[in-house]
Amino acid sequence: MKLTETRRKELRISVDYTNMTDKYLGDKGISQKTLDSHKKIAKAAHAYVAENRGKDELFMGWTELPYNQDEIVADILETAKNIRKKFEYFVVLGIGGSALGPIMAFNALCHLHYNELPRSKRKGPKFYVEDNVDPVRMKELLDIIDVKKTCFNIISKSGATSETMAQYLIISDLLKKEGVDVKENVIFTTDASRGNLVKISNELGGVKSYVLTDGVGGRFSELSPVGLLPAAVLGIDIKALLKGAAAMDKFCKSPDIYKNPALMCATLQYIAIQDGKNIGVLMPYSDNLRYVSDWFAQLWAESLGKNVTLDGKPCHVGQTPVKALGVTDQHSQVQLYTEGPYDKVVTFLSVGSYKEKSPIPHGCENIPDVSFLGGHTMEKLIQAENVATAYALTKAGRLNYTIFLPEVNEYTLGQLLFLFELQTAYTGAMFNIDTYNQPGVEAGKKATFALLGKPGYELQRRDLAKAASDPDYII
Ligand code: PA5
Repeated sequence: MKLTETRRKELRISVDYTNMTDKYLGDKGISQKTLDSHKKIAKAAHAYVAENRGKDELFMGWTELPYNQDEIVADILETAKNIRKKFEYFVVLGIGGSALGPIMAFNALCHLHYNELPRSKRKGPKFYVEDNVDPVRMKELLDIIDVKKTCFNIISKSGATSETMAQYLIISDLLKKEGVDVKENVIFTTDASRGNLVKISNELGGVKSYVLTDGVGGRFSELSPVGLLPAAVLGIDIKALLKGAAAMDKFCKSPDIYKNPALMCATLQYIAIQDGKNIGVLMPYSDNLRYVSDWFAQLWAESLGKNVTLDGKPCHVGQTPVKALGVTDQHSQVQLYTEGPYDKVVTFLSVGSYKEKSPIPHGCENIPDVSFLGGHTMEKLIQAENVATAYALTKAGRLNYTIFLPEVNEYTLGQLLFLFELQTAYTGAMFNIDTYNQPGVEAGKKATFALLGKPGYELQRRDLAKAASDPDYII
């Protein structure tokens, strides 16, 4: 993507928080005084992130990903070129932060029916991300791909995730049965030296592998090889993606909330959460952006949902992310947002220029209720509905704000991802929690190990047997 200075300016994404303010929402809005009184905490959060950026020991290596990957990017582009030549299918096996980014970028930047396009119209192989262990899904994927012609990218930072390792066992067994040398059809993205994928690679005699560095946690890893390799295979301009992230990093240098969009979003959300707005709805008005909501849901939920502060005080903070799609969910959830409890902040993702306009032809001239649509475009219709929904929510006194993307492309998506990552980092710092851990998911993981007989979990297995369902409560 050619990015002249003028083009960069045209493509800058912006945050419009008009509809969060008391000027437009009356007593349901946030006053200037309230915002100003949070300048200090925002400044401290900004300082925490600025001072610790790049520190692996604090899992803040993600802040440097837009700047420190020149060699890796060159290697990824070369590998992607070879994959495109050699394979008909590219399958990511991973879960959580090792899957949501690749799904999001694929959907945002490729044709919405990419896999159905003929090969000549696709930039790369057919693409699938398998982020579940639903047995039907696994079997039905295997019904449609030819494993011999498939490159499997196994992504697991820990190399210890049962779901991903189970998938690996299935595909490596199939590859062997087909007489394929497994290492020819797999690429690992994992830790430099720890975890089972490293051991497997050694056993297989060296698998092409990309390193997910220590300081980058799963949900902050989309701009690392976790996201960059799948994106490059799809022909996505990963350099522009990283440039977009760097641009947003630059826009967010100031400790002043009025000059730093991510810090403003974090402060608004922090104020709203303190005021009982426990639900955060992300509502893109774009099918291309719909999986940004899934990616963001993990980032926001896993990072902020914590029960203890950094100095050991109980807290139970967080905001429940809800995914909605404009306009589809206007016909499903917006009734609740407009008239239900005052417990939400709605964030719209709005697009200035869609890559297609889809003109609506004139017709049904004798039926004015239909004919008024003729002569417009679907772009104009979706934008009008976006504006109208924000207006209706505002009239009903509901907090909402808009992140505006002039277009959906690599450069704007890079900005958006970095904006959300910084917003999450700032908000976590304001709550004084560990934004980068996820102790709450460990208990379930260990119980699964116990149920499946993993050595070392015998005690827990006995405890689980006792905690089985009580027939008194089954109807
Ligand atoms: O954000 C996180 O760290 C998690 O959601 C992980 O991405 C997820 O649990 C998968 O872990 P791994 O990449 O180690 O397989």
